[in-house]
Amino acid sequence: MEIPQQLRSALDAELASVPSKKIALAVAGLSGRYRIGTSCIGRGYLQSREDIIAYMAYRLPATYAATHAALEQVRDRLPDWKPQSLLDVGAGPGTAMWAAATIWPELKRITLLEREEDMIAAGKRLAAYSPLAPVREANWLRADVAGAWETSPCDLVIMSYVLGELPQDRVAPLLHRLWEATGGTLVIIEPGTVAGFHRIKQAREQMLEKGAKSIAPCPHDGACPMTDNDWCHFAQRVQRSRMHRQAKAAELSYEDEKFSFLALSRTPGAAIEGRVIRHPQVRPGHIRLEVCTPGRVTTSVLTRKNREMYRIARDLRWGSVVPPGAMSERSPNGSEPGGCPTGG
Ligand SMILES: C[S@@+](CC[C@H](N)C(=O)[O-])C[C@H]1O[C@@H](n2cnc3c(N)ncnc32)[C@H](O)[C@@H]1O
Repeated sequence: MEIPQQLRSALDAELASVPSKKIALAVAGLSGRYRIGTSCIGRGYLQSREDIIAYMAYRLPATYAATHAALEQVRDRLPDWKPQSLLDVGAGPGTAMWAAATIWPELKRITLLEREEDMIAAGKRLAAYSPLAPVREANWLRADVAGAWETSPCDLVIMSYVLGELPQDRVAPLLHRLWEATGGTLVIIEPGTVAGFHRIKQAREQMLEKGAKSIAPCPHDGACPMTDNDWCHFAQRVQRSRMHRQAKAAELSYEDEKFSFLALSRTPGAAIEGRVIRHPQVRPGHIRLEVCTPGRVTTSVLTRKNREMYRIARDLRWGSVVPPGAMSERSPNGSEPGGCPTGG
């Protein structure tokens, strides 16, 4: 995946004004703080204008890719849903807005909440490059989302890579507030780490109690079947531009962003049998899939004996919906690798 051309041009222009050595230094400082999880109390991880430049150079392409991938799962589950309004909470430079506007270009009204004034200014400069008027004319509001804030309800509410930066005692009230502000679907994205998934799992439990319906990645509204020593996450590959490589002093032309997320709606999505939650393991003669299904995580082995299913399984990816019938040959004792054995 690549970030949109206009966003790339906007980033290039933004970063051109700062010497590349300065950017690389700021990136090293910011990535170190993210790695060890230390934010400056009350000010978060972004402590200076250089940090904001560093965020755009080093994190924006990856968080864009993760958000885009999560929203694709939402669109697949709600194919007829066309949100008109978006609320981006803890918007940073407007990353989630760019991703949402790519998936749903019919968005008409966009509001972004962000605490850092310099981040808002940077986000507005980036948005000026968008071909979409609602993105260029979006309403940026300076707000501490951990406190009290007001907006009218929006069809789509996204909070990406923010939950882990909030004081623990503000999380539950904020989730409550987000759901109040959600007319259709709420999407929360976190890093694909054990800690990130743990936050997502807790948020899911809280929201299901309010009657929210799981849209993605979960194929059901039951308890999460993931065991304590495991975590549900996905990965999205994003191409690195030259500027991006320089900023990170990286050799590879791409990176894989790991993320955990949840999308919850006021109405149920199209029913699905399961979702692939690991890279499919393609071995000579069979494909092994780890699938989240209502009630449990199941390992399915599809062999060439079932040609049609085997052909379908070859196209499945980490995050794919399992097509109807793919789970129906599951053997109760897990001993027949002709279909989908080994319950988890
Ligand atoms: C890791 S960045 C994520 C930005 C963007 N959502 C993305 O996915 O790229 C976290 C953002 O949340 C903002 N933030 C953190 N705590 C906040 C708060 N209490 N109120 C408003 N914004 C906050 C930070 O200033 C920063 O811009």
